[in-house]
Amino acid sequence: MEKNIYITTPIYYVNDKPHVGHAYTSIACDSLARFYKMLGKKVFFLTGTDEHGLKIQQSAKEKNIDTQSFVDLMSKKFHDLTSVLMLTNDDFIRTTSEKHKEGARQFWSSLEEKGEIYLDKYSGWYSIRDEAYYQEDELIDGKAPTGGSVDWVEEPSYFFRLSKYQKPLLDFYSKNPNFVYPQSRFNEVIKFVERGLKDLSISRTSFTWGVDIPSKKGHVMYVWLDALTNYITALGYPDNSSEKLKKNWPANYHIVGKDILRFHAIYWPAFLMAAEMRLPSQIIAHGWWTVEKEKMSKSIGNVVDPIDIIDRIGLDSFRYFLLREVPFGNDGDFSKHAIISRINSELSNNIGNFINRVYAMSTSNFGNQIPRYGQFLESEKKIELKILETVEQYKYYFLNVEFSKALGAMIELVSAGNKYIDTMQPWSLAKENQTERLSTILRLMLETIRIVCTMTYPIMPLASVKVLKSLSCFDGDENLSYESLKNINFLSDGSPIEKIDLLFPKIDKKLS
Ligand code: MSP
Repeated sequence: MEKNIYITTPIYYVNDKPHVGHAYTSIACDSLARFYKMLGKKVFFLTGTDEHGLKIQQSAKEKNIDTQSFVDLMSKKFHDLTSVLMLTNDDFIRTTSEKHKEGARQFWSSLEEKGEIYLDKYSGWYSIRDEAYYQEDELIDGKAPTGGSVDWVEEPSYFFRLSKYQKPLLDFYSKNPNFVYPQSRFNEVIKFVERGLKDLSISRTSFTWGVDIPSKKGHVMYVWLDALTNYITALGYPDNSSEKLKKNWPANYHIVGKDILRFHAIYWPAFLMAAEMRLPSQIIAHGWWTVEKEKMSKSIGNVVDPIDIIDRIGLDSFRYFLLREVPFGNDGDFSKHAIISRINSELSNNIGNFINRVYAMSTSNFGNQIPRYGQFLESEKKIELKILETVEQYKYYFLNVEFSKALGAMIELVSAGNKYIDTMQPWSLAKENQTERLSTILRLMLETIRIVCTMTYPIMPLASVKVLKSLSCFDGDENLSYESLKNINFLSDGSPIEKIDLLFPKIDKKLS
């Protein structure tokens, strides 16, 4: 049985509605999922919502809504966003579903049976915003390192023997040098573990909104233990005969923000080791977005609603900007200026213009039909080489989750195409009736457009499909293939070229 490529987003807290940061993680996962499908792989892509914990219980209380109705309402907003963003997720898990809760309880029992859990009393700092415990020496000016406020907590609690896993984790890290991407973040994780691990409090008794543990009256599961198990409960855990579990676990990519790396790169592998389960292949940590250089926050009032921005600039441009603007792993700034200059220069002026001029010349000279190839000269051979080189780079970068570089390679190909047209001056060839040259040049450029728009498909599915359809070469998302990028003779001679509306209008006014 061939294993699927299993890709996950974090499950999102439902204390508030989705913002651009959430959309970012989801879009990155979706693009990777679409890319793998183009490589001919079977993919399982999971997203969902994290609905327990004190933070959510308090948010519901503030709104005067009962907690279950509140999480139903908020989870729906995240669910709706999956369609707005055109995510190709195969499932959407909710941690308040019975199926998940039962799986999480079974995971607990499995840890307990193996002697990995004991009852004691927790006293220490807890940040409700981060849903995380902090040690005294981690606090900065009396706050969590994330800036969240902390409360002193003292309550009976079950503990997981995390300290026991210091050495196994360090051994695992050294045997799996690509476990965390990027490397700089991996180094931080390793240093943290090297400093020593304390056993982890995994149950709470001071509130009730969580997975209850039947045999432990009064305790609910620590929200992170509950949440992390979503990656396996969604696959049918604890049913070890589940096809889904066998086909997908271990995950290939858990894609998360840098703020929650510790949970994924330390706690989760330790839990899995303790449960004697296999570990995920890679945890990818991306950076954070600020808005006009400020941290996104409700109190500043600068939280970007993805639906609002998509209404203004369109889904493709939004997805493109997020993945192109900053190298994955780095922080980025979501600013009007950056959006306008990125979209206008690369999408409107470069790709948009390239497509326009090639379509205009093809339709005026060859009556809306795909022209044929004639003989190749050095200039055409050079473009062919550039195409082959670009598609290799594109794949290499994509597999390294370097979305920005993959798109950069694609943009360079478009620039090479534009330059080739400037040099070849097909408009003069038309005047001189050099039909075969003209036909060859335009065919090669139409093939280049097809290749570019297949490369952009994982990031800009709407525009890509529109262009491919207009070239009469689209027969379903499932048939798009990476292999087709290496073929410069893919279109059919004489088949129709349909007119398309302006793909990427300039967006200056839409953002003002
Ligand atoms: N519920 C946990 C995850 C549990 S996974 C088993 C959680 N949820 S969250 O809603 O707070 O965050 C979800 C994701 O959104 C995280 O990966 C986080 O990094 C990301 N982002 C939240 N704000 C962000 C930005 N401003 N910029 C980029 N990503 C950000 O953590």
